[in-house]
Amino acid sequence: MTVSIDDALAVDAVAGLWADPPTLPTKWLYDERGSLLFDEITRVPEYYPTRRETAILRAGSADIAAVTDAAMMVEFGSGTSTKTRLLLRAFAERASSAGRPFTYVPLDVSTEILESSSAELALDYPDIGVEPMVADFTSPDLTLPAAAGPRIAVFLGGTIGNFDVAERAAFLRTLADALAPGDYFLLGADLIKDTGRLVAAYNDKAGVTADFNRNMIEVLRTGLDAQGLYVDDFDHIARWNPARHRIEMWLRARRDIDVYFAALDRRWRLPRGADVLTEISTKFDPGDLADELAAAGLDVVKSWTDDAGDFQVTLSRR
Ligand SMILES: C[S@@+](CC[C@H](N)C(=O)[O-])C[C@H]1O[C@@H](n2cnc3c(N)ncnc32)[C@H](O)[C@@H]1O
Repeated sequence: MTVSIDDALAVDAVAGLWADPPTLPTKWLYDERGSLLFDEITRVPEYYPTRRETAILRAGSADIAAVTDAAMMVEFGSGTSTKTRLLLRAFAERASSAGRPFTYVPLDVSTEILESSSAELALDYPDIGVEPMVADFTSPDLTLPAAAGPRIAVFLGGTIGNFDVAERAAFLRTLADALAPGDYFLLGADLIKDTGRLVAAYNDKAGVTADFNRNMIEVLRTGLDAQGLYVDDFDHIARWNPARHRIEMWLRARRDIDVYFAALDRRWRLPRGADVLTEISTKFDPGDLADELAAAGLDVVKSWTDDAGDFQVTLSRR
């Protein structure tokens, strides 16, 4: 049975909102507005990861295309595919000079953004086949389309940090199972650094990240037909969890919350000052990352770090 998006929200809300602490999976931050807000975050001065990863891809894309010689790229959580264009250009050039096709499969839960960015990419890269997939990359049944040559799975933006340790191991194992021997995996991961910079990156002065986080309340309100639930009743909190080396984003109730979810026929009460966990963003030690990839059966081929040592892109092979 296929679960519709709203059914999936109901299932996640029932499992998460009454838990201790209350929580909701990060993917619910990404409705159309959330995706556009995330795109805006990538341009705020405090949010260094996108600029660092872009610099790495600008310098390394031709190398990545040459080493992998891939016929297909599948990108998890592709969003607007902005940085991906650097890779697409390199793969397109390589494929056209060898006279063979190249296919790009952007995969995301955010349907509208996936459709609009795929349409733009198809126009901008007429030599590439663009085949978007609306899917949840945490699905245990993850399967990748077949290709006439090696495939490269790509996971950028530090999105891997949104998993906790167990979820990450499960994701990497599922991915490695979905890849064939000789396929590649390109992973962008944010590295551990000064706490002040990390917190600032998730709490920009212009308040874009706050709007992004609080948008999850709107997703709940509209998706579950909620009465008594208002975005303005929540504050955005970003804090560093040193034990788990991760940034955590929370929504803190500004007053006692008493909501009726008509779609669930359930009441949700949250006392003033209580927090809802909406996102974790783990920061990595490069050595640990290589060990985690190896444990899943992915051998590191090469890795790149930006000049400031902020971010790492790792190419591994199944
Ligand atoms: C942090 S953004 C990164 C976007 C882009 N890759 C980048 O590097 O700027 C995470 C992306 O993953 C998507 N996403 C989040 N959870 C997902 C899930 N469970 N399955 C598929 N896509 C998901 C979001 O819609 C969003 O586009």
